[in-house]
Amino acid sequence: MIGMVKRMKRAGLLGINARNASYQMLLNDRRRYPLVDDKVKTKRLAEEAGLAVPELYAVVAAHWQVKRFEQLLQGRERFVIKPSQGSQGNGIMVIDSRMHYGWRKADGTMITDDDLHYHLVNILSGMYSLAGQPDEAMVEYRVDFDSVFDQVTYQGVPDLRVIVYRGVPCMAMLRLPTRASDGKANLHKGGVGVGVDLATGVTCGGMLYDRPITLHPDTGHTLEGLQVPGWQNILRLSARCADLTGFGYLGVDVVLDRKRGPLILELNARPGLAIQIANRTGLCVPFARIDDMQPNSSSLEDRLQMARQLQPDAALAGASA
Ligand SMILES: Nc1ncnc2c1ncn2[C@@H]1O[C@H](COP(=O)(O)OP(=O)(O)O)[C@@H](O)[C@H]1O
Ligand SMILES: [Mg+2]
Repeated sequence: MIGMVKRMKRAGLLGINARNASYQMLLNDRRRYPLVDDKVKTKRLAEEAGLAVPELYAVVAAHWQVKRFEQLLQGRERFVIKPSQGSQGNGIMVIDSRMHYGWRKADGTMITDDDLHYHLVNILSGMYSLAGQPDEAMVEYRVDFDSVFDQVTYQGVPDLRVIVYRGVPCMAMLRLPTRASDGKANLHKGGVGVGVDLATGVTCGGMLYDRPITLHPDTGHTLEGLQVPGWQNILRLSARCADLTGFGYLGVDVVLDRKRGPLILELNARPGLAIQIANRTGLCVPFARIDDMQPNSSSLEDRLQMARQLQPDAALAGASA
Protein backbone atom coordinates (compact mmCIF):
# COMPACT_ATOMS: atom_id res chain seq x y z
CA MET A 1 0.00 0.00 0.00
CA ILE A 2 2.78 2.44 0.92
CA GLY A 3 4.42 1.52 -2.35
CA MET A 4 1.26 2.40 -4.20
CA VAL A 5 0.90 5.79 -2.49
CA LYS A 6 4.54 6.55 -3.32
CA ARG A 7 4.00 5.65 -6.93
CA MET A 8 0.85 7.73 -6.99
CA LYS A 9 2.67 10.72 -5.50
CA ARG A 10 4.94 10.55 -8.48
CA ALA A 11 1.79 10.41 -10.58
CA GLY A 12 0.55 13.72 -9.17
CA LEU A 13 -1.50 12.73 -6.14
CA LEU A 14 -3.22 15.76 -4.67
CA GLY A 15 -2.91 15.99 -0.87
CA ILE A 16 -5.36 17.50 1.57
CA ASN A 17 -3.28 20.62 2.26
CA ALA A 18 -2.82 21.43 -1.41
CA ARG A 19 -6.51 20.82 -1.96
CA ASN A 20 -7.48 23.24 0.76
CA ALA A 21 -4.87 25.90 0.02
CA SER A 22 -4.65 25.97 -3.74
CA TYR A 23 -7.82 24.60 -5.22
CA GLN A 24 -10.75 24.85 -2.88
CA MET A 25 -9.90 28.34 -1.64
CA LEU A 26 -8.81 29.92 -4.90
CA LEU A 27 -11.43 28.38 -7.14
CA ASN A 28 -14.48 28.30 -4.87
CA ASP A 29 -16.08 31.49 -3.63
CA ARG A 30 -16.77 30.93 0.08
CA ARG A 31 -19.89 33.07 -0.06
CA ARG A 32 -21.44 30.48 -2.32
CA TYR A 33 -20.76 27.50 -0.02
CA PRO A 34 -24.24 27.64 1.55
CA LEU A 35 -25.69 26.76 -1.87
CA VAL A 36 -24.06 23.35 -1.77
CA ASP A 37 -23.76 22.82 1.98
CA ASP A 38 -27.54 22.84 2.27
CA LYS A 39 -29.13 20.09 0.19
CA VAL A 40 -32.56 21.73 0.07
CA LYS A 41 -30.97 24.84 -1.47
CA THR A 42 -28.97 22.76 -3.95
CA LYS A 43 -32.12 20.95 -5.00
CA ARG A 44 -33.92 24.23 -5.69
CA LEU A 45 -30.93 25.60 -7.60
CA ALA A 46 -30.74 22.49 -9.80
CA GLU A 47 -34.49 22.41 -10.40
CA GLU A 48 -34.51 26.07 -11.46
CA ALA A 49 -31.82 25.25 -14.03
CA GLY A 50 -33.90 22.35 -15.34
CA LEU A 51 -31.61 19.61 -13.97
CA ALA A 52 -33.32 16.48 -12.66
CA VAL A 53 -33.11 15.71 -8.91
CA PRO A 54 -34.89 13.19 -6.62
CA GLU A 55 -38.29 14.70 -5.82
CA LEU A 56 -38.53 16.46 -2.45
CA TYR A 57 -41.49 15.02 -0.51
CA ALA A 58 -41.29 17.08 2.66
CA VAL A 59 -39.04 19.15 4.91
CA VAL A 60 -39.27 18.65 8.67
CA ALA A 61 -38.04 21.94 10.07
CA ALA A 62 -39.54 22.07 13.58
CA HIS A 63 -40.11 19.65 16.44
CA TRP A 64 -43.90 19.89 16.27
CA GLN A 65 -43.76 18.48 12.74
CA VAL A 66 -42.07 15.27 13.88
CA LYS A 67 -45.26 13.76 15.29
CA ARG A 68 -47.05 14.67 12.07
CA PHE A 69 -44.40 12.98 9.95
CA GLU A 70 -46.76 10.42 8.45
CA GLN A 71 -49.25 13.07 7.41
CA LEU A 72 -46.46 14.93 5.66
CA LEU A 73 -45.60 11.75 3.76
CA GLN A 74 -49.14 11.34 2.39
CA GLY A 75 -49.03 7.55 2.44
CA ARG A 76 -45.61 7.14 0.82
CA GLU A 77 -43.70 4.10 2.05
CA ARG A 78 -40.43 4.35 0.15
CA PHE A 79 -38.31 7.40 0.88
CA VAL A 80 -34.99 8.69 2.18
CA ILE A 81 -34.55 10.91 5.22
CA LYS A 82 -31.43 13.03 5.32
CA PRO A 83 -30.00 15.96 7.24
CA SER A 84 -30.08 18.91 4.87
CA GLN A 85 -26.60 19.96 5.98
CA GLY A 86 -25.14 16.48 6.43
CA SER A 87 -22.13 14.91 4.74
CA GLN A 88 -20.34 11.58 4.30
CA GLY A 89 -23.59 9.65 4.48
CA ASN A 90 -24.11 10.55 8.16
CA GLY A 91 -27.72 10.59 9.33
CA ILE A 92 -29.13 9.26 6.05
CA MET A 93 -31.87 6.68 6.45
CA VAL A 94 -33.04 4.76 3.38
CA ILE A 95 -36.56 3.39 3.99
CA ASP A 96 -37.94 0.67 1.73
CA SER A 97 -41.39 -0.12 3.10
CA ARG A 98 -43.98 0.28 5.86
CA MET A 99 -44.20 -2.55 8.38
CA HIS A 100 -46.91 -3.11 10.93
CA TYR A 101 -45.15 -1.36 13.80
CA GLY A 102 -42.53 0.59 11.97
CA TRP A 103 -40.39 0.68 8.87
CA ARG A 104 -38.01 -1.52 6.93
CA LYS A 105 -34.64 -0.02 5.99
CA ALA A 106 -32.68 -0.70 2.79
CA ASP A 107 -30.41 -3.13 4.63
CA GLY A 108 -33.44 -5.22 5.67
CA THR A 109 -33.46 -4.25 9.36
CA MET A 110 -36.57 -2.78 11.04
CA ILE A 111 -37.04 0.39 13.04
CA THR A 112 -40.07 1.47 15.06
CA ASP A 113 -42.04 4.70 14.62
CA ASP A 114 -40.41 5.97 17.80
CA ASP A 115 -36.93 5.22 16.41
CA LEU A 116 -37.78 7.19 13.30
CA HIS A 117 -39.14 10.14 15.27
CA TYR A 118 -36.07 10.10 17.47
CA HIS A 119 -33.88 10.16 14.37
CA LEU A 120 -35.74 13.21 13.05
CA VAL A 121 -35.29 14.99 16.38
CA ASN A 122 -31.57 14.24 16.28
CA ILE A 123 -31.30 15.71 12.79
CA LEU A 124 -33.13 18.88 13.89
CA SER A 125 -30.82 19.27 16.85
CA GLY A 126 -27.82 19.38 14.50
CA MET A 127 -26.31 16.01 15.34
CA TYR A 128 -25.27 15.50 11.70
CA SER A 129 -24.79 19.07 10.46
CA LEU A 130 -21.37 20.36 9.50
CA ALA A 131 -20.71 22.54 12.53
CA GLY A 132 -23.40 21.14 14.81
CA GLN A 133 -25.82 23.97 14.02
CA PRO A 134 -29.59 23.21 14.07
CA ASP A 135 -30.68 21.56 10.84
CA GLU A 136 -33.71 20.45 8.84
CA ALA A 137 -34.62 16.90 7.86
CA MET A 138 -35.46 16.46 4.22
CA VAL A 139 -37.52 13.57 2.94
CA GLU A 140 -37.10 12.66 -0.71
CA TYR A 141 -37.83 10.10 -3.40
CA ARG A 142 -35.96 6.85 -2.78
CA VAL A 143 -33.96 6.31 -5.94
CA ASP A 144 -34.46 2.96 -7.68
CA PHE A 145 -31.04 2.46 -9.08
CA ASP A 146 -30.72 1.16 -12.63
CA SER A 147 -30.22 -2.61 -12.49
CA VAL A 148 -26.88 -2.49 -14.36
CA PHE A 149 -24.86 -2.67 -11.15
CA ASP A 150 -27.02 -5.18 -9.27
CA GLN A 151 -24.22 -7.74 -9.24
CA VAL A 152 -21.86 -5.33 -7.50
CA THR A 153 -24.31 -3.71 -5.09
CA TYR A 154 -25.34 -4.83 -1.63
CA GLN A 155 -28.81 -3.49 -0.65
CA GLY A 156 -28.66 0.18 -1.39
CA VAL A 157 -28.07 2.82 -4.00
CA PRO A 158 -24.74 3.28 -5.81
CA ASP A 159 -23.76 6.73 -6.98
CA LEU A 160 -21.30 8.32 -9.37
CA ARG A 161 -18.91 11.02 -8.23
CA VAL A 162 -17.49 13.30 -10.92
CA ILE A 163 -14.81 15.89 -10.17
CA VAL A 164 -15.16 19.01 -12.31
CA TYR A 165 -12.14 21.31 -12.52
CA ARG A 166 -12.54 24.76 -14.11
CA GLY A 167 -15.74 23.50 -15.77
CA VAL A 168 -14.11 20.37 -17.22
CA PRO A 169 -15.05 16.92 -15.86
CA CYS A 170 -11.68 15.39 -15.01
CA MET A 171 -12.02 12.28 -12.82
CA ALA A 172 -14.88 9.97 -11.90
CA MET A 173 -15.71 7.05 -9.67
CA LEU A 174 -18.59 4.70 -9.13
CA ARG A 175 -19.40 4.09 -5.45
CA LEU A 176 -21.14 0.92 -4.39
CA PRO A 177 -22.91 0.08 -1.12
CA THR A 178 -21.67 -2.92 0.86
CA ARG A 179 -23.06 -4.88 3.80
CA ALA A 180 -21.18 -2.47 6.06
CA SER A 181 -22.37 0.76 4.47
CA ASP A 182 -26.08 0.50 5.40
CA GLY A 183 -27.67 1.28 2.05
CA LYS A 184 -25.33 4.20 1.36
CA ALA A 185 -22.45 4.42 -1.07
CA ASN A 186 -20.15 6.75 0.91
CA LEU A 187 -16.57 5.50 1.24
CA HIS A 188 -16.37 6.50 4.92
CA LYS A 189 -19.32 4.21 5.58
CA GLY A 190 -17.55 1.24 3.98
CA GLY A 191 -18.71 1.72 0.39
CA VAL A 192 -16.52 0.51 -2.47
CA GLY A 193 -14.99 3.10 -4.82
CA VAL A 194 -14.38 2.07 -8.43
CA GLY A 195 -12.45 4.18 -10.94
CA VAL A 196 -14.27 5.10 -14.15
CA ASP A 197 -12.51 5.81 -17.44
CA LEU A 198 -13.49 9.35 -18.30
CA ALA A 199 -13.64 8.91 -22.06
CA THR A 200 -15.68 5.68 -22.14
CA GLY A 201 -17.49 5.34 -18.80
CA VAL A 202 -16.07 1.84 -18.27
CA THR A 203 -14.99 0.89 -14.73
CA CYS A 204 -11.41 0.03 -13.81
CA GLY A 205 -9.83 -0.91 -10.45
CA GLY A 206 -11.66 -0.69 -7.11
CA MET A 207 -10.86 0.26 -3.52
CA LEU A 208 -12.23 -0.37 -0.04
CA TYR A 209 -11.00 1.69 2.94
CA ASP A 210 -8.08 2.99 0.85
CA ARG A 211 -6.96 -0.49 -0.21
CA PRO A 212 -7.08 -1.70 -3.80
CA ILE A 213 -9.57 -4.52 -4.50
CA THR A 214 -10.87 -6.17 -7.68
CA LEU A 215 -14.04 -7.97 -6.44
CA HIS A 216 -17.08 -6.64 -4.54
CA PRO A 217 -16.58 -7.77 -0.90
CA ASP A 218 -20.15 -9.09 -0.52
CA THR A 219 -21.22 -10.25 -3.97
CA GLY A 220 -17.78 -11.46 -5.12
CA HIS A 221 -18.42 -10.07 -8.58
CA THR A 222 -15.65 -8.35 -10.55
CA LEU A 223 -15.59 -4.56 -10.35
CA GLU A 224 -13.79 -4.03 -13.64
CA GLY A 225 -15.09 -3.60 -17.16
CA LEU A 226 -18.62 -2.45 -16.28
CA GLN A 227 -20.14 0.15 -18.60
CA VAL A 228 -21.93 3.08 -16.95
CA PRO A 229 -24.99 3.75 -19.15
CA GLY A 230 -25.54 7.26 -20.54
CA TRP A 231 -21.99 8.25 -19.64
CA GLN A 232 -21.69 11.30 -21.93
CA ASN A 233 -24.92 12.60 -20.47
CA ILE A 234 -23.52 12.26 -16.94
CA LEU A 235 -20.41 14.25 -17.90
CA ARG A 236 -22.60 16.96 -19.44
CA LEU A 237 -24.79 17.15 -16.32
CA SER A 238 -21.70 17.44 -14.11
CA ALA A 239 -20.21 20.26 -16.18
CA ARG A 240 -23.53 22.10 -16.04
CA CYS A 241 -23.48 21.85 -12.23
CA ALA A 242 -20.13 23.63 -12.22
CA ASP A 243 -21.63 26.43 -14.34
CA LEU A 244 -24.60 26.57 -12.01
CA THR A 245 -22.56 27.07 -8.85
CA GLY A 246 -19.59 28.95 -10.29
CA PHE A 247 -17.22 26.62 -8.39
CA GLY A 248 -13.94 25.88 -10.13
CA TYR A 249 -13.41 22.71 -8.12
CA LEU A 250 -16.54 20.68 -7.55
CA GLY A 251 -17.61 17.12 -6.75
CA VAL A 252 -20.94 16.15 -8.34
CA ASP A 253 -22.89 13.12 -7.07
CA VAL A 254 -25.21 11.56 -9.63
CA VAL A 255 -27.55 8.56 -9.30
CA LEU A 256 -29.08 6.60 -12.19
CA ASP A 257 -32.74 5.99 -11.62
CA ARG A 258 -34.43 3.12 -13.48
CA LYS A 259 -37.28 5.29 -14.72
CA ARG A 260 -36.07 8.87 -14.35
CA GLY A 261 -32.51 8.52 -15.66
CA PRO A 262 -29.59 10.48 -14.16
CA LEU A 263 -30.47 12.61 -11.13
CA ILE A 264 -28.25 15.09 -9.25
CA LEU A 265 -27.95 13.92 -5.65
CA GLU A 266 -25.68 16.57 -4.21
CA LEU A 267 -22.83 18.96 -4.97
CA ASN A 268 -19.66 19.17 -2.94
CA ALA A 269 -17.28 22.12 -2.65
CA ARG A 270 -14.69 20.05 -0.74
CA PRO A 271 -14.74 16.68 -2.48
CA GLY A 272 -12.68 13.92 -0.87
CA LEU A 273 -9.41 12.75 -2.36
CA ALA A 274 -9.85 8.97 -2.25
CA ILE A 275 -11.12 9.13 -5.82
CA GLN A 276 -7.42 9.19 -6.75
CA ILE A 277 -6.86 5.79 -5.16
CA ALA A 278 -9.89 4.34 -6.94
CA ASN A 279 -8.46 5.61 -10.23
CA ARG A 280 -4.83 4.81 -9.34
CA THR A 281 -3.87 8.30 -10.50
CA GLY A 282 -3.47 11.76 -8.99
CA LEU A 283 -5.72 14.74 -9.62
CA CYS A 284 -2.72 16.98 -10.34
CA VAL A 285 -2.31 15.20 -13.67
CA PRO A 286 -5.66 16.21 -15.24
CA PHE A 287 -5.50 19.58 -13.41
CA ALA A 288 -2.24 20.45 -15.18
CA ARG A 289 -3.61 19.29 -18.55
CA ILE A 290 -6.71 21.43 -18.08
CA ASP A 291 -4.67 24.46 -17.01
CA ASP A 292 -2.75 24.12 -20.28
CA MET A 293 -6.00 24.03 -22.24
CA GLN A 294 -7.18 27.33 -20.68
CA PRO A 295 -10.87 26.44 -20.39
CA ASN A 296 -12.02 29.85 -19.09
CA SER A 297 -14.99 31.14 -21.10
CA SER A 298 -15.00 27.99 -23.28
CA SER A 299 -18.43 26.67 -24.27
CA LEU A 300 -19.92 23.59 -22.60
CA GLU A 301 -19.27 21.53 -25.76
CA ASP A 302 -15.62 22.62 -25.90
CA ARG A 303 -15.12 21.72 -22.25
CA LEU A 304 -16.63 18.27 -22.80
CA GLN A 305 -14.28 17.83 -25.73
CA MET A 306 -11.38 18.75 -23.39
CA ALA A 307 -12.59 16.10 -20.93
CA ARG A 308 -12.42 13.48 -23.66
CA GLN A 309 -8.82 14.46 -24.36
CA LEU A 310 -7.66 13.82 -20.80
CA GLN A 311 -5.95 10.49 -20.57
CA PRO A 312 -5.80 9.27 -16.98
CA ASP A 313 -4.61 5.91 -18.31
CA ALA A 314 -1.33 7.46 -19.33
CA ALA A 315 -0.66 8.49 -15.71
CA LEU A 316 -1.76 5.07 -14.48
CA ALA A 317 0.79 3.39 -16.72
CA GLY A 318 3.46 5.72 -15.31
CA ALA A 319 2.36 5.07 -11.71
CA SER A 320 2.50 1.31 -11.88
CA ALA A 321 5.77 1.22 -13.82
N1 LIG B 1 -32.80 9.67 -2.60
C1 LIG B 1 -31.99 8.63 -2.36
N2 LIG B 1 -32.36 7.39 -2.68
C2 LIG B 1 -31.57 6.32 -2.41
N3 LIG B 1 -30.36 6.40 -1.83
C3 LIG B 1 -29.92 7.62 -1.48
C4 LIG B 1 -30.70 8.80 -1.71
N4 LIG B 1 -30.03 9.86 -1.25
C5 LIG B 1 -28.87 9.37 -0.76
N5 LIG B 1 -28.79 8.03 -0.89
C6 LIG B 1 -27.65 7.18 -0.49
O1 LIG B 1 -26.87 7.89 0.47
C7 LIG B 1 -25.59 8.26 -0.07
C8 LIG B 1 -25.18 9.67 0.38
O2 LIG B 1 -26.12 10.63 -0.10
P1 LIG B 1 -25.77 12.15 -0.37
O3 LIG B 1 -27.03 12.83 -0.75
O4 LIG B 1 -24.65 12.22 -1.34
O5 LIG B 1 -25.33 12.71 1.05
P2 LIG B 1 -23.90 12.92 1.75
O6 LIG B 1 -23.65 14.39 1.71
O7 LIG B 1 -24.05 12.44 3.15
O8 LIG B 1 -22.89 12.15 0.95
C9 LIG B 1 -25.74 8.12 -1.58
O9 LIG B 1 -24.51 7.83 -2.19
C10 LIG B 1 -26.74 6.98 -1.72
O10 LIG B 1 -26.08 5.73 -1.59
MG1 LIG C 1 -22.53 12.36 -1.19
